[in-house]
Amino acid sequence: MSLELSAPPQSAPACADDGVWLECIACEEQFAPFDEIRYTCDSCDGLLEVRYADPPTFEDFGSGASTDGPDRGVWRYREALPFDLGVTLPEGDTPLHEASRIREEVGVEHLRIKHEGMNPTGAFKDRGMTVGVRVAQELGVGRLACASTGNTSAALAAYGARGGMETLVLLPKGKVAAGKIAQASLHDARILEVDGNFDSCLDIVQELAERGEVYLLNSLNPFRLEGQKTIGFEILEEHYADYGTYPDRIVLPVGNAGNTAALYKAFRELVAGGALDESEVPKLTGVQAEGAAPMVEAVQNGASEVRRWEDVETRATAIRIGNPVNAPKALPGIYNTGGTAVAVSDEEITDAQRALAGEGIGVEPASAASVAGLRKLRKSGDIAADESVVCLTTGHLLKDPDAAFEAGGDPEPVANDAEAVLDLISPGERSPLQAASRRVSRATESPALPALIGGGLALVYLGYRKLRSDS
Ligand SMILES: Cc1ncc(COP(=O)(O)O)c(C=O)c1O
Ligand SMILES: [Zn+2]
Repeated sequence: MSLELSAPPQSAPACADDGVWLECIACEEQFAPFDEIRYTCDSCDGLLEVRYADPPTFEDFGSGASTDGPDRGVWRYREALPFDLGVTLPEGDTPLHEASRIREEVGVEHLRIKHEGMNPTGAFKDRGMTVGVRVAQELGVGRLACASTGNTSAALAAYGARGGMETLVLLPKGKVAAGKIAQASLHDARILEVDGNFDSCLDIVQELAERGEVYLLNSLNPFRLEGQKTIGFEILEEHYADYGTYPDRIVLPVGNAGNTAALYKAFRELVAGGALDESEVPKLTGVQAEGAAPMVEAVQNGASEVRRWEDVETRATAIRIGNPVNAPKALPGIYNTGGTAVAVSDEEITDAQRALAGEGIGVEPASAASVAGLRKLRKSGDIAADESVVCLTTGHLLKDPDAAFEAGGDPEPVANDAEAVLDLISPGERSPLQAASRRVSRATESPALPALIGGGLALVYLGYRKLRSDS
């Protein structure tokens, strides 16, 4: 099975374990999945993919699986995963929100927001970690590690803690949102802040992994993407249940391009299993911040490789990445599904974050990039008005409280006094006349109004009777 959308199913090679093996996407060399720790190909250093002899169909999921297990979340899809259950909190089964105001504003047929910020640690990374930490147990490794723009470190720390394992995280100093460091800290990861960007953190962790010091749980690890693949299964199942069709397009933020690669893999497997027609595969559409957009540059040039950006900057720190390691898996996903990629400014990201918040959906800046990208591509006409679109929002609002305050405004101080509060919330209404008119208007809204009117009429009638009897 190559990276073509139409690749047929493969039969298991001799090295496979229960129908599962690793395969290099560049030279197609095959490896046993769990006999040794490897992240890339021994021969050519290409990226590895987990392959299965039995591609899944929708009937295999949940209660249709040949094994007992959860009916919801990541492990609902165990027939398409290397294990039946992992170290779980549990993860997945995230909401597919409607967003009617944004839908009307941009003008598309359907718009749904797949809010991955509703996972246990507040980001999609949990889906990858539940599988990755299970594999770490299988391999018998001691120390788990990752480089991170924040969310991977929070997920690794939580899932490592759950599995009773030691965790080490390398973060770019001063560039990780507060909520994420707080999580890694409380879940007791060893946190090292590197004087460099995410890409240099990943270089270091990769070197430590090659020396056998740590087990690497970045998305370079092919098992991480197996868990993240379930986002694709969930979106297709939920969309079909609601509309009887699959979405035309999935718009998602891109950093290391792990999700783009993982969603494409989910679709390829369903096509190989005959469950999905090639024409039904959603167009994968990646969005990056203008200051960190090497994938967008590659797609705009029709290139098969990305150029590493050394200097990257964006308010959306989660996608402040200049060297997307999964690009060789993700670019075919964008090209072969008829998708595209677009860069958005930090202002556009913040505006989209506000628009989502206005629908009650709280996301961190990187997540809002998907909606900012949708707006931009609708304006340019790259996305058509008759499309059904799903935007992926990858992390929760509380991950980055500083960004939320900047987008939303700070609380105002007020004296401990009701009049002072009224002065602030209804300014200009404090003259005696306005106060009196407010009392009248309050009285007319009062539920006691009919009784008052009734009482008034009774008094008038009694007065009239008295006048008659006196005359
Ligand atoms: C909130 C958020 N969105 C998007 C991304 C990028 O995801 P990917 O590396 O799969 O492109 C990350 C991870 O780095 C993230 O934390
Ligand atoms: Zn190879």
